Amino acid sequence: MKKFQTKATIIVYENESELSAEDRRLLALSREAATRAYAAYSHFQVGAALLLENGEIVTGNNQENSAYPSGLCAERTAAFYASSRFPGVAFKKLFISAINPKAVLARPIPPCGACRQSLLEYEQRNGQPIIVLMAGQQGEIWQAPSIESLVPLSFSDDFLPATE
Ligand code: THU
Repeated sequence: MKKFQTKATIIVYENESELSAEDRRLLALSREAATRAYAAYSHFQVGAALLLENGEIVTGNNQENSAYPSGLCAERTAAFYASSRFPGVAFKKLFISAINPKAVLARPIPPCGACRQSLLEYEQRNGQPIIVLMAGQQGEIWQAPSIESLVPLSFSDDFLPATE
């Protein structure tokens, strides 16, 4: 028997005053996007701002549905729109923030597992790590160096049979 470890190194900023000007702008855009979320059922509004290699910034927010699984998270809304609008253009940075209208969210919001899996494919396809920044409404902001670092033991097309 043997063991191996998986690990991710997360940078922690005390608050937004420690961020670069670019990151502050992405945070502001993700917060603005969160205010436009359609979160009729959870009332939890999430915003994502995706900076692309060509300088474009695409934002997205969560879109819910009365048939709950038919909704979509903010991160995938942004990623799918970015890829449909700018196919093959690498995603450089993703900033995620959220608004909990019932109690101020004082910790960073991490992407859900399904979003990590989706984003991993774009990261691998585009051959460039996506820096992921996560914020709440106040408090610390966390930064992960890549999607891969957030998806240990990931499944990818490497496992699929080679096509002709
Ligand atoms: N949600 C996101 O948009 N992103 C996340 O990373 C976590 C959860 C959304 C999905 C749903 O609309 C609401 O937040 C509550 O789960």
